[in-house]
Amino acid sequence: MGRIGIMAALHDEISSLLEAMGPDASRTRIGRRDYYTGAIHGREVVVVLARVGKVAAAATAVTLIREFDVRTVVFAGLAGAVSDQVAVGDVVVATSLLQHDLDASPLFPCYEVPLLDRSRFDTDPSTSQALSRCAQEYLTGILPRHVPAGTLAAFGVALPRVHRGVIISGDRFVGCGLAVRKLRDELPDALCVEMEGAAVAQVCYEYDVPCAVFRTISDRADDGASISFSDFLSRVARYYSAGILERFLTAQA
Ligand code: ADE
Repeated sequence: MGRIGIMAALHDEISSLLEAMGPDASRTRIGRRDYYTGAIHGREVVVVLARVGKVAAAATAVTLIREFDVRTVVFAGLAGAVSDQVAVGDVVVATSLLQHDLDASPLFPCYEVPLLDRSRFDTDPSTSQALSRCAQEYLTGILPRHVPAGTLAAFGVALPRVHRGVIISGDRFVGCGLAVRKLRDELPDALCVEMEGAAVAQVCYEYDVPCAVFRTISDRADDGASISFSDFLSRVARYYSAGILERFLTAQA
């Protein structure tokens, strides 16, 4: 069994995971990023902070695949809700991803990646299934022990749920009611929006490497999004990502 590559855009999303690797993790610096190789709960991993946006995510995914020979790539992070069915504190596990800001029309259909003949990139079903299970177990059993009830209540998190479906990505933080309504109208099956996942899914498709993306909802991508996002990032994000990933890695060991 090969290594699993684990990516996130921001430090708070993987800080607990880096701690779990302990002092034996070895650091390799490539392209101004640090790749930490080691084990978590007996599973070989490479953990890296990709930074924000599609270019950063794609470059990091290529390095994980080419330099570290990872067997699977998993991206963990936050997202803004697009669907009315998705609430702050819920987890979305992608079944497929699309770049909502890619438009080479009229030469190619809107959203299609030119010369690849597709706009949506599927995730690996068994990895995504395993992550959904771990997310469900985390939300029902562990989250209430990790995060103080007052903090969860402050974000309106009561009975968080796991969703599976389409995640959309673009090089833009969506923080305006008009913009999120436009996305909802144009892409009615989109569950949430973030800034990296579809780029990772495209790279993994091109290299034939299974990938999975899961996101915790930090905001509603509306006018209050930047405040909700920053608050959620500093007070809650680390618990979700590490809690779900540690369960996932234990199950994979
Ligand atoms: N990541 C978390 N919230 C987001 C938003 N509203 N837009 C883009 N990326 C996000």
